[in-house]
Parts: sequence; structure tokens; C-alpha cells
Amino acid sequence: TLFPLPSQSNLETFIAHYGDVYEHSPWVAEAAWQHGLRQEHDAPDALAELMGLMLRQATPEQQIDVIRAHPDLAGKAALAGELTHDSTSEQAGAGLDQCSPEEFTRFEQLNAAYKEKFGFPFVIAVKGLDRYDILAAFEERLDNGLAQERETAIQQIIRIARFRLRARADEAS
Ligand code: GUN
Repeated sequence: TLFPLPSQSNLETFIAHYGDVYEHSPWVAEAAWQHGLRQEHDAPDALAELMGLMLRQATPEQQIDVIRAHPDLAGKAALAGELTHDSTSEQAGAGLDQCSPEEFTRFEQLNAAYKEKFGFPFVIAVKGLDRYDILAAFEERLDNGLAQERETAIQQIIRIARFRLRARADEAS
């Protein structure tokens, strides 16, 4: 189970513990709280589903802002150690901190090309992927249209949040 249990929390405590599940976007957790949390949301997947629904119900502008709140993969902020706790472990978990200079250069080119085309950074749930999988997905998604990439990015962000909540539940148990 999660700690503290959402159903036994107050708004301030809930945000303190779950506000960062969506990268730099605590309003998603707040919307879930305002929507009404019940006992059933004490399970990571149920809470993840509710928080995902809050993002789905947000305006297109709010959704784009959440996408834009994500750091580049293997980017300058990662190299400088400026990522959030979760992003740091996710990027390291995929071996992105082990890139060769050539691989870092490739990520830099792809990050720039993707942002140039879509106006937001490339976001992918990296759990279970290595840097070669990520580079392959990156090249493939660069060919997509804007509407499809917006949808894919939101799906991936909801997936990232589910993995983050599951990891916290594992840590707490
Ligand atoms: N997927 C999982 N973590 C991250 C992250 O920090 N940045 C991006 N772009 N995608 C991710």
C-alpha cells in the first residue's frame, strides 16, 4: 500500500507526497484530491488511473505544459545533475548516464530535431528499455504527426506516473 494512504491524508500531506508524481505538475495530484479520493485509491494502479484521468480532462494547454515540464533524455540537465529524483533514477535505470560521447551527441541531435518539429520534448516511459530501444523509438516517433505525438506523449506520461506510484508502494511495503 501507499504511505501515507491517500484516503487518510489531508490535501497538504497528499500533495507533499504525491505532488511530484507528475513532473513539476502538482496540480494533477491536487485535481485528483479535489475529485474525491476513496479507500480504493490506496492501491497504486487505482490512484494512477485517477490521476491519469485528471490529466486527460485538463485543457490542451495544461497537457502541453505537463509535456514541456519533462527534461530531455540524456540532456544537459541530466549531465549537470539537475533532474528530479524520479527522473534521475529513471534515466540511470535505462543506462542513459552510460552513453558514449557519440550516443550523447545522437541524443542531442534527436532532442533538438524533435523539439523543433513538435514544440515539446520527447517523452517516453523508459522503464524496461535500454538506450538502444529508446533511440529506436525516438527515430520512429520523429516521423509521426503532431496530433499523434501529443497523444503518445500524454499516454507515456500517464505510464511514467503509474511506474512511479508502483515504485513508491514497493518502497513503503
Ligand atoms: N521518461 C521517464 N523519465 C523521463 C524523463 O525524465 N524525461 C523524459 N523525456 N522522458 C522520461
